[in-house]
Amino acid sequence: MTKKILLLPGDGIGAEVVDSAKAVLQALSTRFPDATYEFQEAPIGVAALKAGNDPLPETTIEAVKSSDGCLLGAVDEAALPKGTSALGRFRRRLQLYANVRPLRAYAGVACLCPDLDIVVVRENSEGMYSGTEYAVGTDAACAVRIITREGSRRIAKVAFELAASRRKRLTVVHKLGAFKMTDGLFLECVREVGKSYPGVALDPRNIDAAAMDLIQHPGQFDVILATNMFGDILSDEIAGLVGGLGLAASSVLGDKYGYFEPVHGSAPDIAGKGIANPMATILSAAMLVDHLGQKKAAAAIGEAVTSVLAAGKVRTPDLKGKSSTQDVTRAVIDQLMR
Ligand code: IPM
Ligand code: MG
Repeated sequence: MTKKILLLPGDGIGAEVVDSAKAVLQALSTRFPDATYEFQEAPIGVAALKAGNDPLPETTIEAVKSSDGCLLGAVDEAALPKGTSALGRFRRRLQLYANVRPLRAYAGVACLCPDLDIVVVRENSEGMYSGTEYAVGTDAACAVRIITREGSRRIAKVAFELAASRRKRLTVVHKLGAFKMTDGLFLECVREVGKSYPGVALDPRNIDAAAMDLIQHPGQFDVILATNMFGDILSDEIAGLVGGLGLAASSVLGDKYGYFEPVHGSAPDIAGKGIANPMATILSAAMLVDHLGQKKAAAAIGEAVTSVLAAGKVRTPDLKGKSSTQDVTRAVIDQLMR
């Protein structure tokens, strides 16, 4: 049955990389007859604001709800006016609490940690990015770090499930010394959920120590569970260990709805130049296809990306190559069709 895919290109390089992933998805049905898609598009971010809308239009929310899967390019959050947001609201509004970011090294890509294979499970609906921030007079401002039992338990469950399916080791990062109440509650919930997963070793670490250990002993990590901001920062750090953000894909899921997106953001400095690396979005599309239950088709996309990277001929400037976004797209599709 044809699946309805909603594309949310957004800002900066978003449109270029989403176009690329769309072409890969369209090519998929030649090899996998059940992997057929019908595409729709909706606005989000600065692009939506410019069209006279809210950066997160109601019509976009409705379109997400009625789609089978959703692929987002990027939102230039920093360019949105104070007090507004698109991604943060999107995640809170639809309770998209689980941001899963698999990060691994690829043959043929120069990197600091050639064996690295880590998944960051980042809480994505509360914590430091709960959206509660205000000025206190003219000389102070305040951001509220919200941690709830329900929010902590549900993300812990996602992390334990994943850890149980992998190397049965879950690192949870915290800063208990500074956040005695919030991280105290978070850790209490994680330990409680962990009781149902006796086969998974729980490894609590201070966030600062974990940031260093990741560089010195990356092999100690498999699945990392983090609150919103710590997960945001660590996932970029780990991406840096495996050749940068150009290959980092992610899912942002709740119990009912969700979307898939590259981790890199809108990259306004290279927008419109046709040189953005589309691989992270193509890999995010593969995660989407996998989520739709089309496991073989999803694996084929991953294999095509892996082969193109290993061959080392076609790559964008972020990976020290000279190819364009379109060259990379074509190379992945050619590989997929073999
Ligand atoms: C990310 C980004 C976003 C986030 C920003 C743009 C709001 O950094 O997805 O990692 O922190 O969630
Ligand atoms: Mg980030």
